[in-house]
Amino acid sequence: MEIVLATQNRDKIKEIREILKGIPVKLITFDEHSRELCVEEDGKTLEENAIKKAEVWMKETEKPALADDSGLEVDYLNGAPGVYSSRFAGENVNYADNNVKLLKMMEGVPEEKRTARFRCIAALIFPDGGKELFEGTIEGIIINAPRGESGFGYDPIFLIPEYNKTFAELGDEIKNKISHRAMAFSKFRKYLEIYLNKG
Ligand code: IMP
Repeated sequence: MEIVLATQNRDKIKEIREILKGIPVKLITFDEHSRELCVEEDGKTLEENAIKKAEVWMKETEKPALADDSGLEVDYLNGAPGVYSSRFAGENVNYADNNVKLLKMMEGVPEEKRTARFRCIAALIFPDGGKELFEGTIEGIIINAPRGESGFGYDPIFLIPEYNKTFAELGDEIKNKISHRAMAFSKFRKYLEIYLNKG
């Protein structure tokens, strides 16, 4: 069986491949497709965007497609940036621009009000229209200044209280065991085991 990974974000592909290491299906990424596909992420929720991305890639390849949409929800900002996490500071911005904007908006906010979570929705869409959703979350705190070098996106400013380290300080191995993406994709892995056993 082959499943298409419906994303062009290399950071995500790297993490998802690591999280799904050893699954008995071939994961195909855009490098192996005939062309790249740009999907506009104009949904109002992570669910809508994940489903849209998976559907577009499924139709293009005629294979089951798996997409992830994820975002950071900051309680003090009523859940922002949420579904707009990748373009929080505007169109064509980089990860650092988004972090700078978020840190500015959180300036002076006391630690107990800096709670946040990453949420990930993974959507699996089959060519016959079948659809499965898997959700993962992880709670953390937005710190005052970036710490750590690994990971991507908001990782340097997202601290996991249990470790007293940011995702960027924890490193890929631990992040890929505990992250929102790890949670969502391990639910996908369990689903897949049952699906494949049914024959
Ligand atoms: P999307 O799922 O492609 O829409 O991306 C959402 C955005 O959320 C990314 O561009 C990152 O800025 C952020 N994001 C998603 N997952 C992570 C993560 O694991 N660490 C840090 N930032 C993330």
